[in-house]
Amino acid sequence: MSKEPFYITTPIYYVNGKPHIGTAYTTLAADTVARWQRMDGYDVHFLTGLDEHGQKVAASAAEHNMSPQKWCDSQVKDFTDLWDLLGITNDDFIRTTEERHARGVQEFLQLLYDKGYLYKDSYEGNYCTPCETFYTDEDLVDGKCPDCGREVEFVQEENWFFKLSEFGDRLLALYDEQPEFIRPAIRMNEVRSFVEGGMHDLSISRTSFDWGVPLPFDPDHVCYVWVDALINYISALGYGSADDSAFERYWPADFHLVGKDIIRFHCVIWPAMLMAADLPLPKNVFAHGFLMAADGSKMSKSKGNALYPLDLIDRYGVDAYRYYFTSDVTFGADANIGTDRITQVYNADLANSYGNLFSRVSNMAIKYFDGRVPEVPADFAEADNPLKDIADGLYERCRSCISDIDFCGATQAVMELVHRANLYVEDAAPWNLAKSPDTKGELAFVIYNALESCRLAALYLAPFMPISSTELFARLGLGDPCAIDDVEHEGVWGGLPAGNPVTKGDPLFVRISDKA
Ligand code: MSP
Repeated sequence: MSKEPFYITTPIYYVNGKPHIGTAYTTLAADTVARWQRMDGYDVHFLTGLDEHGQKVAASAAEHNMSPQKWCDSQVKDFTDLWDLLGITNDDFIRTTEERHARGVQEFLQLLYDKGYLYKDSYEGNYCTPCETFYTDEDLVDGKCPDCGREVEFVQEENWFFKLSEFGDRLLALYDEQPEFIRPAIRMNEVRSFVEGGMHDLSISRTSFDWGVPLPFDPDHVCYVWVDALINYISALGYGSADDSAFERYWPADFHLVGKDIIRFHCVIWPAMLMAADLPLPKNVFAHGFLMAADGSKMSKSKGNALYPLDLIDRYGVDAYRYYFTSDVTFGADANIGTDRITQVYNADLANSYGNLFSRVSNMAIKYFDGRVPEVPADFAEADNPLKDIADGLYERCRSCISDIDFCGATQAVMELVHRANLYVEDAAPWNLAKSPDTKGELAFVIYNALESCRLAALYLAPFMPISSTELFARLGLGDPCAIDDVEHEGVWGGLPAGNPVTKGDPLFVRISDKA
């Protein structure tokens, strides 16, 4: 049976800064969904990349005495290295300075021009370079950028405009007909009131600098960086090229994951551009919140309260990093991030519960069953099995949580099995059952159930913590869980073959001293 396509994207990140905890967060979230969807049998296409044009990048290049292209080239590795370290499984990586992207942008703009949606006019207004956004005088707060609070620049130029104001009614109809287009709902309300307030046409070109894609019908103008950037979602699929088979297969996107600060671009400008071009609209734009310092203030290098992905990975490891940001941070809400809490979650869930369960149970399988998964005796086949009862609902719970990008719900469902399995082992006291040959059957039943719970926990946690899941599977004589493409079938209770070797190894998660 051919697989159903599933297309997920992250924003493309500006190259003028290093990857940070916020950009890593969106990328990690998209990776977790992509991994789950692959395991659930979808033909996944996961795109991330870099936003390399615009005034801000050109200015950074000048500050570093480099050509813009050289500057962009010098920044790429920091991103790709971090994504490699975090185990990000993107299928493509787009840079907006690539030829394939410029071609897509030009094709798209030519189409809008031919359809009569673009016109030339003089522009007078304010521009915030750090936000790469135009503002009217009324938008400004105390004469400064309403988003970042910095100084804006007064711009007076001949620009090309997109007739964005014509799309208000169609956008409002979209929000009504497709309530899942913008999630969570709070963001939908925000976007809707913005559109209801009435929209201006959008300036889509600049002439005062040349670091961008030239407009095909007026090459003295370069495309406004946000319009250029949004088109990455289709240029990467070959839109506008001789081979647009990926575009045909994967577009429209199932999910654009974005931060809450950039929803207007994704939920107003982007759908209006696509409507103008007569192209299908993405199914979901899902906005996450902001990661703040532990005290709720903005993280910043100068305040010294910023946390850096590499430092955290160094301290907790890749899997724990991934687990923390998915299990303890609600996707969609702002969150205060501090190492006290990360350590607490690490110790409670990973070291004391999950890691400890596997270590105890695998040691007992080694000790009592010569390092083999025991066979469940026939007279226990119908016995009460509280672990199986929890495990039986896990596939549905995880699937439904992931479709709502509720990572906390999915990991919590798996942790319920882990916690229950620890209690079960405590209650059943296999060390007592091992004392008498009469209870050898029950011992086999208990150990099998506990090992099978570990297998299922590792299976469902594989999208969150691929390294430890792969390790746990290997210690049960099983292959790579991340390569599974039928998780529902693999998730059926009893899938762990009796007789499989159980091997000893270092603890999966070593407890971190609270003072460390
Ligand atoms: N280049 C544009 C996106 C173009 S997409 C067609 C851009 N780039 S960015 O590098 O500035 O930001 C990328 C993402 O990082 C945004 O989604 C933003 O919300 C996110 N974050 C930046 N700081 C953040 C936090 N402190 N916390 C969580 N995410 C935040 O915007």
